[in-house]
Amino acid sequence: MLAVVISAAGLLLAKLSAPPPTNFDLGPFAFWVALTLISSFVPVRLPGGVLAYLNTAPLLAALFDPSLANPFAVCWIAFLGTFELRDFKRQLPWFGTLYNRSNWVLSAFAAWVALAVTNPWVKAADPYATFAQILIVGFAFAIANNFLSVLAASVRQQSPFAKIWALSVRNVAIGLLGQIPMGWLMAKIALGVGYWATLPFLIPLLLARYTFTKYAETRDLFFGTVSALSQAIDAKDGFTRGHADRVSRIAGAVAREMGLGEAEIERIELAGLLHDIGKIGVEDRILMKPMRLDADEQELMRRHPIYGASILEPSAALRPLVQMVLHHHENFDGSGYPEGLRGEGIPFGSRVIIVADAYEAMTSDRIYRKAIGHERALEQLEKYKGIQFDPKVVRALQQLLAKRGPGAFEVSDLPPINYETLAELRRRLAREPLIRDAHAG
Ligand SMILES: [Fe+2]
Repeated sequence: MLAVVISAAGLLLAKLSAPPPTNFDLGPFAFWVALTLISSFVPVRLPGGVLAYLNTAPLLAALFDPSLANPFAVCWIAFLGTFELRDFKRQLPWFGTLYNRSNWVLSAFAAWVALAVTNPWVKAADPYATFAQILIVGFAFAIANNFLSVLAASVRQQSPFAKIWALSVRNVAIGLLGQIPMGWLMAKIALGVGYWATLPFLIPLLLARYTFTKYAETRDLFFGTVSALSQAIDAKDGFTRGHADRVSRIAGAVAREMGLGEAEIERIELAGLLHDIGKIGVEDRILMKPMRLDADEQELMRRHPIYGASILEPSAALRPLVQMVLHHHENFDGSGYPEGLRGEGIPFGSRVIIVADAYEAMTSDRIYRKAIGHERALEQLEKYKGIQFDPKVVRALQQLLAKRGPGAFEVSDLPPINYETLAELRRRLAREPLIRDAHAG
């Protein structure tokens, strides 16, 4: 797939260059290559692993510059001007470097086609037509560029195309909308005042880069914090290490299988990570009891969804998860807790999480019992569908496991948990003398 993109770009460049255009002027060409290079050098990594570049404005400026021999010039500027620091540091495989160049060349060509097609309708003094043309050209460029970037990211990360597309498209669109008219303006100023007058445009570009970076950092911080919180619960339990992470991935995959939108899938994944956060409020003697709980203890344990909801409620970012967490132990027939909701009255995310939670619990070892295995877990889900579980959710999980196999959720995008959990640390320290005793006397 990626090789097809590279070949297409190679063929296009060869076709445009043989024979080379007669009206080629090296000066403006070199200027736009240099300006594009400056803005390409350090891209910003956005959620989903797609990179945001600020070179769209100078690249489109070259496209709108009528003194250049386009499409020959703009395609070569797209090839030469988009090298970035990673290419020089050899942080990318040669294949990746070639693919990225191909992406820019093809996107620039798509924009040129849009310009050439719309040109006959645009008269010089018509602002509406000019504005429409800038938008059409910009979108042709942006869609080709994002499509090829997401394609590469999806192959590299082995995650679904739709997921990365949905994560990246809004961010990229916002960034590009700013850069598209700027590119047109840069070309006008270069021709009207002089090429040197386009240099101050680098300032808003660098400011945009700073904003992008801050946004990506904030999002990373949010997910990192949620992940740390969920690992804190796993660590306290000890015997459910990695449980929340797997529940989150199973729930997200089931929601995706059921055709939900990416924003809702992300909320369900977050709720999956935090579903047992309320266990912080359950006493250790109950939470860490290695035997079955008696009736009173069970009653106290059953309060954890309520505690969880109250922990999440004060945070605006986590508030959308409150209902899913509060109801993650509601049974489909109304026999669950805390409110005894039934059927469709239970939030959809909770119905997904309870299935993911049960499947994960049955297929991983606990301190008081061994895992019963994939086949028996599926039998149990089948047996209790319509009673404890939403039959539609169970069917989606069955389809998913039939497609991917029982090992589907073992591979994690997250780094492996290779540290000592809190419970392990407590057990180890309990066996060792207290430090003050060691120094006593
Ligand atoms: Fe729970």
